[in-house]
Order: sequence, then structure tokens, then C-alpha cells
Amino acid sequence: MDKLLIHGGRRLNGEVRISGAKNAALPILCASLLVPGTFRIDNVPALQDTDTTLKLLERMGVRSVRESGGVTLDASSVTHLEAAYDLVKTMRASILVLGPLVARFGEARVSLPGGCAIGQRPVDQHIKGLQLLGAEIDIEHGYVVARAKRLRGARIVTDMVTVTGTENLMMAAVLAEGETVIENAAREPEVVDLAQALVALGARIRGAGTDRIVIEGVSALHGGSHRVMSDRIEAGTFLCAVAAAGGELRLTGCQPDTLDATLDKLREAGLRIETGADWVSASMSGRPKAFNLRTAPYPGLATDMQAQLMAVNCVAEGTSVITETIFENRFMHVQEMSRLGADIDAQGNTAVVRGVPALSGAIVMATDLRASAGLVIAGLVAQGDTLVDRIYHLDRGYERMERKLASVGASIERVRTVVES
Ligand code: EPU
Repeated sequence: MDKLLIHGGRRLNGEVRISGAKNAALPILCASLLVPGTFRIDNVPALQDTDTTLKLLERMGVRSVRESGGVTLDASSVTHLEAAYDLVKTMRASILVLGPLVARFGEARVSLPGGCAIGQRPVDQHIKGLQLLGAEIDIEHGYVVARAKRLRGARIVTDMVTVTGTENLMMAAVLAEGETVIENAAREPEVVDLAQALVALGARIRGAGTDRIVIEGVSALHGGSHRVMSDRIEAGTFLCAVAAAGGELRLTGCQPDTLDATLDKLREAGLRIETGADWVSASMSGRPKAFNLRTAPYPGLATDMQAQLMAVNCVAEGTSVITETIFENRFMHVQEMSRLGADIDAQGNTAVVRGVPALSGAIVMATDLRASAGLVIAGLVAQGDTLVDRIYHLDRGYERMERKLASVGASIERVRTVVES
């Protein structure tokens, strides 16, 4: 298992190019199942999760050709309408094939993902919505089995805001007969990006980016192309890194209009920020100032930024209160940050962080993707060496993070562990 060895205390200076967004690329790759032709997708990040999605699609019979940052998918001859447990258990986003499969082929068999490190994460809203669209759903041997002749448009009000739930139902509704309205829809930019990709393929969707999405079903989609949006969480992660470690970074290839909530918090911390159409520059001198935060659905502060922003607060001047409202168990990094000398008291969904002047390097264990990013940031400021173990979590969602950090002055290297057979 690979690890990251970080020698902390270096300031960051230089330019980082932000990759395509994981959480937009995954649903957009799955949308290829709706198309009886070729779908060219650009700016696809090279990640473990995009590899897993391509493997999932290939097993179903989707042909894929990867070249220069993009992939061309051809789902004209899908033969296998199943997502098996061995892949779904490694990536919950696999549930995103359910809507497209049942909409186009009238049948799907997708393993239930099971629990996960950050919370229970049920998929009841995906199922409820598909049932409203006329699918018959059974749970058989751990699999969601969905059947429908042709889905029919319906009005769906989700019980809570769900990102992949909204995406799954939007993809299903694209081929349903008549109009579908999704109320209480997620407003995340990744939902908008998926809607734009679907429209490029012939779908009729309006309202994406609001909490009411209206989809006029069409009988078939056609081939097309789309460029995946920039990863706002990767951009936010690098901004937290410079806020904690100090220095000056310029992020290119990013979409500052998707970063408002994170930029507001980091300005409060004292990060000086300038933005242009597709860049952000940020500089920090001295210690950050503590800031409170509460995660919320977009346009609120992303839960996917909570661990990284906590890392900034760990070394800030003052005390902060961090409240996680989206997932019930997303404080697993607290124990590990404490091992680096952070002073954090977490009770339920609230953590009180008393900033300390310095952290001290230690061996820490990554528990999930964003927790890993938080630990890397803490390692960048800690005195001495920090070894972050289990970075396969990080590889799921960050493209060459250690190379990007090293290119702006961090002392960070991947330590490969050879497994003896
Ligand atoms: N929920 C239900 N029932 C459902 C669906 C969701 O109870 O049917 C609950 C969840 O348990 C959670 C809340 O609703 O408490 C919101 O979950 P949501 O469905 O929005 O999360 P998701 O779609 O599974 C996506 C991202 C996550 C991100 C969340 C929240 C992708 C592939 N994943 O997950 O990203 O944290 O939205 O913004 O888009 C990550 O990238 O590290 C990551 C975990």
C-alpha cells in the first residue's frame, strides 16, 4: 500500500493546474449508457474512481477509447445490464448506472453499496424516484433489480437534497415518456454539468442549478461531446494548503464562480484572494485566523471541504466551531489530526478546534478521500516528517496530488510498499 511522506514546514509557491471534477466526470461517464452512439468526454481526470467507472461500463459492453485527457465511449451494444458487488463496494457512485440502464433498456441489476466510512448513505431516494417514474423495484440477494417497459414522467419530491439521487433521476427521466419534475433537487455545479452533457446528447432539461429541474422526455439521445467542469474541491484543497502552509499559489483551469463558500471562509482566515474568469491566486503570510463553519448543500459550504478547512483551523489563531450536517460520521480525521498535535474536541456532529502554533509530524492513517486531503495539509505544516498511510483513498479522487504539491515547493513523496507474495 502506498504512503505519502511529507517533510513539513515549507511554504508553497507557484502555479497548479486544476483537473476535471471527479464528481461531475463519474455521472457523465455513466450517462454514456443512455446513448446508442459515441460520446466524447474531455477533461476526464485520471483517478482510481474514473478507472473503476470505465471498468464498470466496459463490463456492460460499453467500448471506450482513452486519449489525451479524454475518453470516447460507445454504448451501442450494451449486453450486460448489471453492476456487480465487487466494483460497487469500492465505489458507491456505481449506483449512477441504475437510472440510465432502466431508462434505456427497461432493466437493471445493481448491487446495493452497503455502508461506508463517512455514514450510512442509503439510496432510498434513488429507488423512490425510479418507482414514481414507473419502475418496479425489488431487492434480491443484495441487488436492486429494476424493471420497466418505458418510464413515465412524474413529479418527484426528494425527502432530502441528494446529489447522486438527483443525477440518477435526471438521467432516468431523460428517456421517460412525458414531463418529469424533480423538486428539492440538488443545486451542485456537478448536477448542472451533467445536465449540460445530457443536453448536448439531445436531452431536454431546464432548471438545473435550481431546486426544481424539469425534464421533457425524448425517445432517444444521439451522439455528442462534452468537456467536464473543473474540480472545485481540488481547487479548494490547494487553497487550504496555501492558507495553512503560507506562500503564494495561482490555480489555473478552475471555475471561481463554483468556489464562493470556500473562498469566503478562507478570506475570513486571512488568505488574500484574487479571481479571474478561470484562475484564482491566493497568498498567505503569517498564521491563519480561526473561522467557524457549517456544511450545507450547495451553494452552502461543501462537506467535501470540511476536513481540509479543519486542517487550516488546527493551526489558526483562535478557536473555531465546525458543524457537519450532511454525513453522520465525517469526523474520522479528528483522531488522526490529534496525533499530529491538533487540539480538537468532537461531540456528535460538532467539533471545537483550538488552534495551536505548531503541529508535529507523525504516522497517520487516511480514512476516506477528503480526510486524507486534510491530513496531507496538516502534514505540510507539521514540524518534521508525517507519513500518511492508506493513500489509496486519496488516489480515488485527486489526480497526482503529491506531484502537484511538490511542483510548488512541498517536500512530499510517494513511498511505494512492495507486497511480497
Ligand atoms: N441520503 C439518503 N438517501 C438517499 C440519498 C442520500 O438518506 O437516497 C442522505 C445521505 O446519507 C447523506 C445526504 O443524504 O446524509 C446527502 O447525500 P448525497 O446523496 O447528496 O451524497 P452522494 O450523492 O452519495 C455526493 C458526492 C460526495 C459528496 C456528497 C455531498 C459524488 C459521486 N459523491 O455523494 O462526494 O460528499 O454528494 O455533497 O458526487 C467525495 O467526493 O469525497 C464525496 C464523498
